[in-house]
Amino acid sequence: MLDMKTIEPCVVVIFGANGNLSRRKLIPALFRLDVAKRLPEKMAIVGCSLEPWNDDQWIEEVSGMLQSRFPGGLDEEVFKRFRARLHYHPNPPGSGDAYQNLQKKLEETPGFSPNLVFYMAVRPSEFPSIIDKLGTVGLLKQNKGWCRVVIEKPFGYDLLSAQTLQRSLYHHLNEPQIYRIDHYLGKGTVQNVIVFRFANILFEPLWNNHYIDHVQITHSETLGVEGRADYYEGVGALRDMIQSHLLQLLALVAMEPPVTLSAEHLRDEKVKVLKAIRPITQNSVHAHAFRGQYTAGIIDGKPVPGYLDEPGVAPDSTTETYAALKLFIDNWRWAGVPFYLRTGKRMAENSSAICIRFKSPPRDLLRHSHRELPHPNWILLGIQPDDCLKMEIQVKVPGLDLNTRTLSLDATYRKSSEEDYDAYEGLLLDVMQGDHSLFLRIDEVEWAWRAVDPIIKVWAMERGFINGYQAGSWGPRGTYRLFDNEDQFWRHSL
Ligand code: BG6
Repeated sequence: MLDMKTIEPCVVVIFGANGNLSRRKLIPALFRLDVAKRLPEKMAIVGCSLEPWNDDQWIEEVSGMLQSRFPGGLDEEVFKRFRARLHYHPNPPGSGDAYQNLQKKLEETPGFSPNLVFYMAVRPSEFPSIIDKLGTVGLLKQNKGWCRVVIEKPFGYDLLSAQTLQRSLYHHLNEPQIYRIDHYLGKGTVQNVIVFRFANILFEPLWNNHYIDHVQITHSETLGVEGRADYYEGVGALRDMIQSHLLQLLALVAMEPPVTLSAEHLRDEKVKVLKAIRPITQNSVHAHAFRGQYTAGIIDGKPVPGYLDEPGVAPDSTTETYAALKLFIDNWRWAGVPFYLRTGKRMAENSSAICIRFKSPPRDLLRHSHRELPHPNWILLGIQPDDCLKMEIQVKVPGLDLNTRTLSLDATYRKSSEEDYDAYEGLLLDVMQGDHSLFLRIDEVEWAWRAVDPIIKVWAMERGFINGYQAGSWGPRGTYRLFDNEDQFWRHSL
């Protein structure tokens, strides 16, 4: 994550090359890396998918993907270089020799490096069988070069299935070969949480239960399920966003300073936080978790259908498109501080942020009556759309009287309109460089499942009812019942 190491030549094989993730994120990220001259000259990309295409048809597809992604036009010279890297391997269902043929292609194509990255951009249920077939034809052995496998989230559907998946991977792979990706860790502002906390001394004395009232971590999006119902049904917001991305953010906010930023030290500290999350018992699920599903509404002035009317969604589905949790971290630093996490699709705004609310001064000398709500300090770390750091403090209102108002100290360092890399560029480079710092270790994944498993179980039993919320709103109303005090409320806009 820190160094700009040289990258050895390699072949990146993308399973699910024609899928949503590959089209929207991976191929554009690889292209941008080529624009930035960060790919080694001898690096090839092999798309692997169900379609019976040849190399030329695949190149046509990729041109289309890139043209729609970069409407301003593609640099001819870079595009020529990028095209030359592209190869295709059809992997139709039931084809007995597809993996043998892949092995031949990888081993015999002139100019192909023996270093291999296999990227699993497929449905989670397909990971074990693909790995098994790659292992059976010997492609996961590291005889002539290295071999790394990138596994997308969710890693399993609960603790038990994650452990089963892990065991099946260990048949053919050892831990250093496995890169469990959580693309949130590739986002600049998420890494900025580490910089904010550990490159400044200013905040550390305040970063504990003496001064912090509570922490809110939000990811809201205006998009709906976007044709991904086959994946999303039965996964839902809790598994899709909270078990992975939001618990990672929580771990970064709450962890102790690591000894170094090496992959092991960083992950050791994150695991300690996840282990310290107070277990939610099945009886207390309703006090700690709230779910909802979007109904028809208006987004950006246009009517949008409810979740149940999305293609591929069962008419009686209770899959949650919104989830909110209250968690406690039972350790010295955070005892008694609630961490509120929430995420939702078809919400009022696209916004990801960490909002930290401080306690009020011990005597609020400037409050005029007990009825007036306190005006606490906040630190707001915006992840998207803008990368920002804001701090809310109280100042005197100009004039003769001693009244106060909130002033926001705004250090926005990147507006969404400014060009920047997406999370995947850096993470793909890390895989090619063999850097695990921003990838999840299996114990992190397991502890994250332990935190949400009781909720999953209770929600799975409650199949009869789910709260609705109108598309374009800030989620179901009842979610406020999670708050411990009546002066706590969701921060919507920064
Ligand atoms: C993915 C989820 O991991 O993250 C999606 O599967 C979600 O449902 C997405 O929309 C959000 O990530 P980003 O980077 O687009 O904010």
